[in-house]
Amino acid sequence: MKKDFLSVKELTQGDAWYIFDMAQQLKGGVGSFEKPLSGKSIGLIFQKPSNRTRLSFEVGIHQLGGNAIYLGPDDIQLGSRESIKDIARVQSRYIDGIVARLFSHKDAISLAKHSSIPVINGLSDFMHPCQAMGDFFTLKERFDKLSSVTLAYVGDGNNVLHSLMYMAAIFGSNLRYSTPPGYEPVKEVVQDVQKMAEATKSSITYYKSPDEAVKGADVVYTDVWASMGQEDEHKKRVNDFQGYQVDEALLGKARKDALFMHCLPAHRGEEVSAGVIDGANSIVVDQAENRLHVQKAILAIYIGGKKKR
Ligand code: CP
Ligand code: NVA
Repeated sequence: MKKDFLSVKELTQGDAWYIFDMAQQLKGGVGSFEKPLSGKSIGLIFQKPSNRTRLSFEVGIHQLGGNAIYLGPDDIQLGSRESIKDIARVQSRYIDGIVARLFSHKDAISLAKHSSIPVINGLSDFMHPCQAMGDFFTLKERFDKLSSVTLAYVGDGNNVLHSLMYMAAIFGSNLRYSTPPGYEPVKEVVQDVQKMAEATKSSITYYKSPDEAVKGADVVYTDVWASMGQEDEHKKRVNDFQGYQVDEALLGKARKDALFMHCLPAHRGEEVSAGVIDGANSIVVDQAENRLHVQKAILAIYIGGKKKR
């Protein structure tokens, strides 16, 4: 595996299973699990707000015996107070790893390039790899085989969709997605996952209409229409995304008893109706919980030295 966990793109299916197996042990509380982060300090560089990512990383680091140091937007002022290169080189002398939630994925790559310590991506404009790993771990708990799951995604072609596309390609799952015109996932990802999908027999397909995309799906997933950093576009996006809300009628077109997923935070009445997200088939809180278990495995492997052989 690489030094850094910036994207799910580089993971093999074997790598992902190694992380899931360890996450499963951690979730089950097998023994007391050794403390792979004992004596280690990890910096959390966050340019954007967070509930789940910050808390689950801080708690996970504590549970693995390490020390988490939160560095919010006012502390580091990445790129304005100090260059990314200097931040990376200095932090590499103090701490053992970085969890970064940055606006720009390019900045995350640059931070990793100039750091001698591992960098874990806690969300960028391009990728949300820890979310997608937590989501597929959640699917694994619900379905016998990831390769036979059909996931439908309706909404913005954003960081969350990109990450889910790679995960589906890695596991041979089927992904049917529908995004409004102008909000498609980036071409590079679409091309990449099609190549990967040939090897795993995954089918990743765009549908013009949300109704078509959810047909026969086991799970329907959506995310906010305006991501962090796109607040100025909110009004326009609400307009452009009309018809893309996951409501009871749309979910009803999926498989009977289809599950509903969302990475959260959610906006009831925009991308999802209250009835769907608060309904019996919504597994959004399981997704949030599994972030903790999966990230602990990622921390133990990438920073705690529990290397895959
Ligand atoms: N899903 C997720 O990453 O949530 P936060 O933005 O609250 O961390
Ligand atoms: N797409 C959303 C995900 C939040 C967890 C964003 O980037 O804001």
